[in-house]
Amino acid sequence: MERVLVFDTTLRDGEQAPGCSMTPVEKMRMAKQLDTLGVDIIEAGFAASSPADFESVREIAREVRRPVIATLARATSGDIEKAAAALEPARQGRVHVFLATSEIHLQHKLRISQEECLERAGAAVEQAVRLVGEVEFSCEDATRTDLDFICQVVEVAVKAGARIINLPDTVGYAHPDEIRTMLATVRQRVPGIEDVVLSVHCHNDLGLAVANSLAGIAAGARQVEGTINGIGERAGNAALEEIVMAMRTRRDHFPYDTGIDTTEIYRTSRLLTVVTGIHPQPNKAIVGKNAFAHEAGIHQDGVLKHRMTYEIMTPESVGLQMSNLVLGKHSGRHALSQRYRALGYELTDEDLKRAYELFKRLADEKKDVLDEDLLAILHHGCMEDFPRRYKLRHLQVSCGSAAAVADVGMEVDGVMQEAMAEGDGPLAAAFAAVNRIASDHVIELHELTIQAISPGGDAVGEASLQATIDGKTFTGTAAAPDIVNAAVRAYLNALNKAAHARTLEAAALEQASYVWGV
Ligand code: KIV
Ligand code: ZN
Repeated sequence: MERVLVFDTTLRDGEQAPGCSMTPVEKMRMAKQLDTLGVDIIEAGFAASSPADFESVREIAREVRRPVIATLARATSGDIEKAAAALEPARQGRVHVFLATSEIHLQHKLRISQEECLERAGAAVEQAVRLVGEVEFSCEDATRTDLDFICQVVEVAVKAGARIINLPDTVGYAHPDEIRTMLATVRQRVPGIEDVVLSVHCHNDLGLAVANSLAGIAAGARQVEGTINGIGERAGNAALEEIVMAMRTRRDHFPYDTGIDTTEIYRTSRLLTVVTGIHPQPNKAIVGKNAFAHEAGIHQDGVLKHRMTYEIMTPESVGLQMSNLVLGKHSGRHALSQRYRALGYELTDEDLKRAYELFKRLADEKKDVLDEDLLAILHHGCMEDFPRRYKLRHLQVSCGSAAAVADVGMEVDGVMQEAMAEGDGPLAAAFAAVNRIASDHVIELHELTIQAISPGGDAVGEASLQATIDGKTFTGTAAAPDIVNAAVRAYLNALNKAAHARTLEAAALEQASYVWGV
């Protein structure tokens, strides 16, 4: 079967979305999971955008060896040099050069003529080919570009040596018929296009990103770009899991293979949720909480009689393997490790030790420990693999008809500190007490959500929040049976990321100085 390459841009286009920024450690964790998922290309970042992004692309290029590692670059020689330097340790690197081609972008954003656009495109691709070899060229805003002009730009880029041509629907404006026409025209008119991989990259402003991506594949695109959970600018990018499952479920329309191990989809989606704190909507196709839930009596009856009455794909095919198996306070370490293995996680001895400790604590508070709880233990308790400046040591909150009062004890760089504060409610009081201790940060909390991750009154609560800390946005997540505790831990998670980012930025600036000339 013909192959469609999957190009994941969760760490670049996805990460640009509000609240989705990730620390370098989180990006590395995601990149490794994307490798396990089987994507062909990981766009690891935009190397020229900051020293921290540069370092993060370089680290991923060094450590993640199977997929091609790409980095975005504007069509300028400075960007392309930085991209090439960041990709230098990669087994196989790719520079993804982009240049806007639509009249509105040329006139108002770049203020250049079509002739200058053609010149820049050719020069940039030539330079990137010279420095790295593998080059993808994107006509930004392709779907609002005059078709004759797209063909001219693509011809120049192909002549200059681009081997992948991407035609993005940057503003999510296109209709599937237009995508088909655009690809057919380029394939018909551009000399040498048969030696090039055509690619589509669709945004979701009109909710058509996946439909447009599939139209592109039907019209000859053999690379498709998107993000996990569809995160991205504005309404997001095309959700890769939806494209892949649509192709797999409707082979009659899409007789193509991908390298994706679909049973890794749910794990990848869940990891991204924990890392960003942004949950897919419950009814989101493939990975939403309700995507495989059958609530209506008639549906339940049908599924019990024959699954395919209301299920077009199985939850197992995307790696959703929740069972009714429960563990409790008498379950041992072996049972725990077996359960994690059944869920697809091979824990290191160290992670298992930590998971077991947390499991025992949870089992003391909660009679039945479900798979969802085990995943929360793993994601929130075992994966914080960066140094934590702040550690919660005790939390006492009293509230009622008067103002709430919180007493917080935290270790800061190994030294115990305590503070008390009042607030309108228990969370306001607890956050105010934390702010007193972490007073060298300027913190503005924007959003806080708390979700029960399993059924029942004794459910574990998962807190996700977004805060601006010292001028940058960070997310924090944590889980605990007590929701005030979960929220305070999520707050500390965001603070720890901010403290870690400060340290990393200083280090990245130092390491990248030879490229940046600072
Ligand atoms: O949406 C877009 O046009 C992009 C390009 C940079 C590929 O993200
Ligand atoms: Zn995009």
